[in-house]
Amino acid sequence: MSGIVVVGTQWGDEGKGKITDFLAEKANVVVRFQGGNNAGHTIMFEGKKFSLHLIPSGIFRKETLNILGNGMVINPKALLEELEMIEKSGIIDYNLAVSDRAHVVLPYHLILDELFEDLKENDKKVGTTKKGIGPAYTDKSARIGIRICDFADLEVFYEKLKGNINYYNKIFKIFNRPELSLEEIYEEYKLYSIKIKPFVKDTGIILNNKFEENHNILFEGAQGSLLCLDHGTYPYVTSSSPTAASVPLNTGISPMLISEVMGVTKAYSTRVGSGYFATEFEDETAKKIRNIGNEYGTTTGRPRRIGWLDTVALRHSKRISGITGLSIMLLDVLSGIETLKICVAYRLHEDIIDYIPASIKDVEQCEPIYIELPGWDEDITKISNFSDLPDNAKDYLNKISELTGIEIAIFSVGPDRTQTIVLKDLYK
Ligand code: IMP
Repeated sequence: MSGIVVVGTQWGDEGKGKITDFLAEKANVVVRFQGGNNAGHTIMFEGKKFSLHLIPSGIFRKETLNILGNGMVINPKALLEELEMIEKSGIIDYNLAVSDRAHVVLPYHLILDELFEDLKENDKKVGTTKKGIGPAYTDKSARIGIRICDFADLEVFYEKLKGNINYYNKIFKIFNRPELSLEEIYEEYKLYSIKIKPFVKDTGIILNNKFEENHNILFEGAQGSLLCLDHGTYPYVTSSSPTAASVPLNTGISPMLISEVMGVTKAYSTRVGSGYFATEFEDETAKKIRNIGNEYGTTTGRPRRIGWLDTVALRHSKRISGITGLSIMLLDVLSGIETLKICVAYRLHEDIIDYIPASIKDVEQCEPIYIELPGWDEDITKISNFSDLPDNAKDYLNKISELTGIEIAIFSVGPDRTQTIVLKDLYK
């Protein structure tokens, strides 16, 4: 029995979908525990590319149970569209459960996400995915959220929706936005409710039973540790916690059931949206990385900002999630770069520091301190062993492991399942 958590160690988009899909082979259950369709997980297999936003990456394996946990915020329309996309590609034999305690993202959340961003001054904008995630979590904290259990009960749903639409229409009126029609939204969402109802379960009970039956459970984090509401670069973060600590609370299991934590990192760094990014650079090399790595957002299509690998950030992620193995993704993208830089510490005024300061003012003044390593020219996309790598690529991986104090469990040299090299098996 194993409880393995996959977390992003950077600002999201590290390639967690590919790792989760890979680890899902030995998992009986795959669970998303936070976020919503702000996430975008790309999975390639049999030459086909799939972009998942809400559905766990185990959906392509018919024997795997896929759970959307209680910590998620779920847009029902987006969920059904994703299921339709999967079914159209021929996958009809899937196994899905949606937590009755998860929250529902409704049309007013999307409008509020846009409105709140518009109201902020330019340099204060978070650059959200505009999927309504922040406002849905705000409703949850404000105790006016509509949960999946309410959504599945049409009488309760109607009453709660009525209350919230009345409430938010008052706000829309102040800001000259069109008011929403309760009846129109109810009629549309009623159909979604009926379709989603068969999947609604108490997923906490299911998960606890699965652990008792000695099953392997994989928890699939969305976003990355530096976007964590508590431990990320606040306020330029998302509204949930994509850390291993978030798993017990957001799925209803004991923390003692987590056996391993797989931290996923790119061989370099990327970020979408606003917020300081110490190792960011923009030159011909960055353009090359963006093109070869196809660094454009899966959810919004925005070009991603490019930076060198930042091991201060990796050590921060290790501390907050207890990472026991590292997956290094997109190593092949670095082929052909003459000199590679790795950030080993920050200079903050007179001090050399090895942590991410809480104050965004301090964060913005951190200058990266780099070491440089020679790159390699060889195409590594067809290698299948660590020993096949050019010496400089081996040194690069070994240096990351040494600087983070984390063993490398997997590295990846291309998007396909077959381009994944395993050095340490996290399953017991
Ligand atoms: P929100 O989650 O849509 O509220 O956006 C908050 C911040 O998190 C923005 O900077 C987004 O670009 C970022 N973000 C949210 N989800 C992802 C993701 O899956 N990958 C990368 N960045 C994300």
